[in-house]
Amino acid sequence: MSFDRSLKIAPSILAADFADFGREVRAVEAEGADWIHIDVMDGHFVPNLTFGPPMVKALRRHVRTVMDVHLMIAPVDPYIDVYADAGADILTAHFEAGPHTHRTLQAIRGAGMRAGLALNPGTSVEVAAPLLDLCDLVCVMTVNPGFGGQRFIHSQVSQIARLREMIGDRPIHIEVDGGVDATTAPLVAAAGADVLVAGSAVFRGGSVDDPSPYGANIRAIRGG
Ligand code: DX5
Ligand code: ZN
Repeated sequence: MSFDRSLKIAPSILAADFADFGREVRAVEAEGADWIHIDVMDGHFVPNLTFGPPMVKALRRHVRTVMDVHLMIAPVDPYIDVYADAGADILTAHFEAGPHTHRTLQAIRGAGMRAGLALNPGTSVEVAAPLLDLCDLVCVMTVNPGFGGQRFIHSQVSQIARLREMIGDRPIHIEVDGGVDATTAPLVAAAGADVLVAGSAVFRGGSVDDPSPYGANIRAIRGG
């Protein structure tokens, strides 16, 4: 996985058919997904519950691009090794998930994965400053995490621009997650984001048996 700042679309399987994840992943990659974004929720850190390590491991053999695992769980540290074993390429933990984010990011890299730091909308991006050299990706949440299909929080655009300044020429991706569609994507891309997570805006209108809308949706988010 080499670093570049080209625009990447990372469909979130939170908006896919939960009974058919393997085929959904293959369909959306065939339709142009750059990465696959996997939302792990614990019903504790966020008020929703999705799935855990065995599901992520089972998905690994279907993902040919980059498996981008977004942990919305607390605590994180006891689960880092199982997500490495599950085959995550990038493992992202929330700043708000515990008091020892620095240690968590070190442990993620220590387990052989790329380390991501996610920031809730209520958290200033300035908190990332002492952590950036431990990060391969910073995920700016543009909704409060927990559910797909929520409204994009516009005040986060200036936080993305500030983070872009803070990162400078360091090889750190800026990912944006929540409410990204063809209307909001240009705003976050202009502010400096290079990885756009999109759930409902990618999967709407299509299915594994009729996946061409996925491709049209991805192209629309990418900007035509
Ligand atoms: C929100 C998740 C997102 C979510 C995005 O808690 O982290 O990845 O699936 O969904 P949309 O694109 O529908 O806002
Ligand atoms: Zn996510």
